[in-house]
Amino acid sequence: MPVEPRPVLKLIKVQDAGIKDGSTVLVRVDYNVPMKDGAVADDTRIRESRKTVKYLLDKKCKVVLIAHFGRPKGKVDPKYTLKPVVSPVEKIMGARVHFGEDCVGEAAAKAIAGAKAGEIVLLENLRYHAEEEKNDEKFAKELSRNGQYFVQEAFGALHRAHASTGAIAKFMSGSIGFLVQKELEYLEKVMSNPARPFVAVIGGAKVSDKIGVLYSLIDRVDSILIGGAMAYTFLSAQNNNTGKSLVEPEKIDEAKKIILKAFKNNVELLLPSDHVVVKEIKEGAKKESTQSMAIADDWIGVDIGPRTEMMFAERIKAAKTLFWNGPLGIFETPDFAGGTQAVARAVSEATRSGAVSVLGGGDTVSALKVSGIKPEQVSHCSTGGGASLEFMEGKTLPGIEALSKN
Ligand code: 3PG
Repeated sequence: MPVEPRPVLKLIKVQDAGIKDGSTVLVRVDYNVPMKDGAVADDTRIRESRKTVKYLLDKKCKVVLIAHFGRPKGKVDPKYTLKPVVSPVEKIMGARVHFGEDCVGEAAAKAIAGAKAGEIVLLENLRYHAEEEKNDEKFAKELSRNGQYFVQEAFGALHRAHASTGAIAKFMSGSIGFLVQKELEYLEKVMSNPARPFVAVIGGAKVSDKIGVLYSLIDRVDSILIGGAMAYTFLSAQNNNTGKSLVEPEKIDEAKKIILKAFKNNVELLLPSDHVVVKEIKEGAKKESTQSMAIADDWIGVDIGPRTEMMFAERIKAAKTLFWNGPLGIFETPDFAGGTQAVARAVSEATRSGAVSVLGGGDTVSALKVSGIKPEQVSHCSTGGGASLEFMEGKTLPGIEALSKN
């Protein structure tokens, strides 16, 4: 079935934006990073912004970073301060970082004035202001006073139409940083021009989170492999017994429609043909593999079974383009991680043989790491969970659209 071409948006790259040496540059980053005991637990998003920040520092610019952290709901809440990010940013960028206690007004201006060329200023959480999430123009104008140029590098936040991803473009001419360029290049390659066979692996707990992406993928892929708890809703839609497994009864009709659409489009939609099942979800629980698609009463599906692992791995290894979102089982419990690990190994093998593989979503990247596969062993791990899914749904991300208009 022919796919509607996506609108071509004109975006300026940071390296083509004519940014003058020694200027003050406002960079929106996504430092919404996992924290543990008040310290950054995973610095991937910070490292991924390094190329852009270093590029600007090498031009002797003052780099002013703005970011959100968590969901403080428009109020100052110390639980959501960006202060713990200062030290990792300093280490990763190899430059002094000044902290501004607010992202607008005098506190921001003072922190920026106190920094020298070639130094960084990190401003406090944008979401301490309710105006950020309201995409408020006055607030965006205030933000724009923090720099002479604007660079958008927060790929993970581009599905949000907020002041720092939307309205700000009305007040500053903006460009996209190297991370946003890389994200768009890979996601676009997979969406618009995939080498075939194109195989998508979709897992995770809920069908409801993945409806949009499933419909979009059915117009583009050759095969969809479905795992994770969402597979049980699909199996239910085909009248299979799913025991006590997690099923979304209100999504069974949707699952039927997706199965029908795949059939009409001649897309192979593969569901697990066997499962790992337990009577209790806990490490060390007695587990069994089912002999068929059906799960007996009293049993709970927690992973794909060994036959499904082999079937999925075979499809994945034959692919030339791969998109993977969501784990295939409860991978956080090592006993139930076998299916996810098998998929991770197959994806890395396919990549080694020349396939383009793109992983979306924080969970998927954690699943890859748990499997002992390094992010470098796949083509691209997206830093945006929601953003990469919305992109793959075929939507134009508000943060991209805003910049393409200025
Ligand atoms: C993310 O972590 O996915 C992004 O930073 C967006 O965060 P949000 O879902 O709170 O808008």
